[in-house]
Amino acid sequence: MDTLVQLEKVTKRYDSSGPDSAGAPAVDNVSTRIGHGEAVAIMGPSGSGKSTLLNLIAGLDRPTSGAVHVGDERVDKLSEAGAARFRRRQVGMIFQFFNLLDDMTVIDNILLPAQLAGRSRQARRRADELLDTLRIGHRRDAYPARLSGGERQRVAIARALINDPGLLVADEPTGAVDSATGDEIGRLLLELNAAGQTLIVVTHSPELARRYARRVIHIADGQIASDTLAGHGAPDGARP
Ligand SMILES: Nc1ncnc2c1ncn2[C@@H]1O[C@H](COP(=O)(O)OP(=O)(O)OP(=O)(O)O)[C@@H](O)[C@H]1O
Ligand SMILES: [Mg+2]
Repeated sequence: MDTLVQLEKVTKRYDSSGPDSAGAPAVDNVSTRIGHGEAVAIMGPSGSGKSTLLNLIAGLDRPTSGAVHVGDERVDKLSEAGAARFRRRQVGMIFQFFNLLDDMTVIDNILLPAQLAGRSRQARRRADELLDTLRIGHRRDAYPARLSGGERQRVAIARALINDPGLLVADEPTGAVDSATGDEIGRLLLELNAAGQTLIVVTHSPELARRYARRVIHIADGQIASDTLAGHGAPDGARP
C-alpha cells in the first residue's frame, strides 16, 4: 500500500476535566495506515472519538501523544501557521452542517480557500470544473440560503476540493440531509474516489459505509474495534 495517512500510537486526552483526570482518552493509542486512493468509512457510537480522530488527521487538533503523518508532513509537530497552511493545501474538509458563509455567493464560497492560499487566478478554471462535476453550475451566483441541503453540501465539497488536496475528510456529510440527498452525496463521493481522490468519511449510516467505502473502520471507546474490507479480512498493512 502506498501510504498517505499514518497514525502511530495516537492518543488524545481532552484536559477539560483537569490534569489529574482519570477519564478515558477520546482517542486511545490508535495506529493505522490509509493508502493513496482509498475510500474509508469510520463508524462507531456517539462519543466514540470519530470526530476527534478526523480532526487529528486534518491538523485541526493535536494529539496528547503519538505521531500523525499525512504525505510528507508530520502533522502533530506543525506550528499553528504550519497547520493552517497544511489544512489549506493538503486537506479538504466537509461537515454535517456545510459551514458555508451565508453572505457570499456559491462561487465566492468555493474560491475562498484558493484566495487564502494566494492562488485565486489558477483556481477560477478549477472552480468551473468543480461546479460542473458537482452539478451546481446553475447555482454559481446564488447565496447559500437559497439552496437545498444537497446543493449546499455539493458547494461545500467543491470548496473542499478547490486547492486539489490529497485528502478529503468528511464528518457526517449526510447527517443533515434526507436519505435521497444522502445517497446522491454518497454517489458523488464515490465518483471522486473513482477519479483517485483519497477519502475518509465519518458516518452513522451503514448504508453509506457499505455502498461508498471499500474499507470500514469501527471505533469504540477511542480504539479501533475492527478494520475490514468489504468481503475481505483486514487490509494489507492496515494494522501495526
Ligand atoms: N473539545 C472537547 N473538549 C472536551 N471533550 C471533548 C471535546 N470534543 C470531544 N470531547 C469528548 O471526546 C469524546 C469523543 O468525542 P467525539 O466528538 O470525537 O465523538 P464522535 O464519535 O465524533 O461522536 P458523535 O458521533 O456524537 O459525533 C467524547 O467523550 C466527547 O465528550
Ligand atoms: Mg462526531
